[in-house]
Amino acid sequence: MAAILCVAGAASAPALAGTPRLAATPPMGWNDWAHYQCGFTAQTILANARELVKSGLAARGYDTVTIDDCWMLKTRDRHGNLQPDPVRFPHGMRPVADAIHALGLKFGIYEDAGYATCGGFAGSGVPNGGGRPHFLADAKLFASWGVDYLKLDGCNVYAAKGESQNAAFRAAYRDEHLALERVGRPIVFSESAPAYFQGTPDWYDVLSWVRGYGQLWREGSDIEIFDRKNPDRSRFASVMWNYEYNLPLGRFQTPGNWNDSDFIIGGDRGVTLAESRSQLSLWAMMSAPLILSSNLDKLSRAALAVLGNRAVIGVDQDALGRMATLVRRDASHDVLIKPLTGGRYAVAVLNRSPGTLHIGLSPRELGFPGGACRFETHELWTNARNRALSTLSATIAAHDTAMWTIRPDARCGAPADVGTITRIVPKVPRGHRDAERYTLCLAAPGKVERCAGTGQETWTLGPDDTVRTAGECLAQSGDRAVVRACGLTASDRWHYTVLGNLINEASHRCLTGRTSGTLSVAACQHNAASQIWSLPSGGAVREVGAPRMARAARPMPGAARR
Ligand code: GLA
Repeated sequence: MAAILCVAGAASAPALAGTPRLAATPPMGWNDWAHYQCGFTAQTILANARELVKSGLAARGYDTVTIDDCWMLKTRDRHGNLQPDPVRFPHGMRPVADAIHALGLKFGIYEDAGYATCGGFAGSGVPNGGGRPHFLADAKLFASWGVDYLKLDGCNVYAAKGESQNAAFRAAYRDEHLALERVGRPIVFSESAPAYFQGTPDWYDVLSWVRGYGQLWREGSDIEIFDRKNPDRSRFASVMWNYEYNLPLGRFQTPGNWNDSDFIIGGDRGVTLAESRSQLSLWAMMSAPLILSSNLDKLSRAALAVLGNRAVIGVDQDALGRMATLVRRDASHDVLIKPLTGGRYAVAVLNRSPGTLHIGLSPRELGFPGGACRFETHELWTNARNRALSTLSATIAAHDTAMWTIRPDARCGAPADVGTITRIVPKVPRGHRDAERYTLCLAAPGKVERCAGTGQETWTLGPDDTVRTAGECLAQSGDRAVVRACGLTASDRWHYTVLGNLINEASHRCLTGRTSGTLSVAACQHNAASQIWSLPSGGAVREVGAPRMARAARPMPGAARR
């Protein structure tokens, strides 16, 4: 698939080529937090680790067992070392790590970039009020225990007077990155920093710099935890919200650098089987980490079959590591497509509505130009296979997702990047966090609107840097953005940046879509929500040659090393 070029922000990105040393595919495993919070001991962790193996989930790829917050005491020992809670871990941490390794699994642990964890336990970061952080000493301790994966949260990060939050976070996460390099053990580094900036303009800057330090990052709110007092309260809205905020961020993701939309709670109480299929499907379409967080011993056979679906996991773990394109969205459903290795594609249809949905998708709707074209298909939840289908059709129950892998025949032609162009409304109040309020669609002849799944919301990115709908081009005309016959002038050409700006080649100004619906081309501002767009093909970042336009964004704030 073609992608229009990206330039800005490249300076902070790590090498994008070659196989990454760590987390070449999205990390998979289990973590205690969403089910147990602080209600665990070493026994809880080891029982789940054994269950991971016994259930067959480990063999499907869920291979890392991570102990989240609350494992340590609130204070350090007299040598400054972290102390595992002696009640939860009477024999210390090393035997737990050894037992996890003996099961053939990897061992992960939680810490915090601030002076205290979110639960108030001892953090690795700069003490409150200033002083020396503990990143290196703690990293050495973790390495001595055999830690393979570190989740570094971002509560209580101390910022010195005059230091921005962004700079304080950046210094802390870079220090941890350097500490992990110093200890020499390959440790996957999961960064929570962006989650602390969700809804602020700095979010995109933080999302740009975390790529240089770690392999995955949480970028938004926590998925809803298990509520012991009300175990069957629905948690589906929370699954939808995490999907919703993650989907527009595809441009930050490449193999070895993953957006993390938080735990898989599918299979647990509060999430039906249909909703569990949806969570796994959507996470797989986004190439998100698959980190289970439930009491594995209590999962039904049906739930285990959902979580262990080889073909769906295969889509998640595909080596291209791309985020799906939102082809189409209306009030009831989303259509997604994701390119896979070997000329295949994954297609998913999420039925967000409370009713049954009947769907039929033609090759053209999915971006394939060929007319009399057929797909070899595999329906991943029913396991139905077909050698030559001209339409993907399904009847999808409420909150369920249909998912296929397809291999188009030669007549289908090379697919274009076709789908929605969206912007988000960063400050939606809690309780209103739904797809319609958070994400707006760019629509011809020149406005932003609630996504309605119409042809006017379907855009094709041309290899000639045009953005087309129904054969016509999005173009700058004075201060306005209009759709008109393509003239192939610089006014018809747009460049895309990692910060999400669509910059007109003629004017070097930014496509601006206000929530009022008005579309214009205006001076580019730094991380203005009305100028940040998500494009088909996951907006995958592809650097092409030298920058051809003025830099729109200010350079990212540097973080002075302490
Ligand atoms: C934050 C994180 C959660 C969990 C808790 C622990 O809320 O986002 O995933 O680690 O802290 O306190």
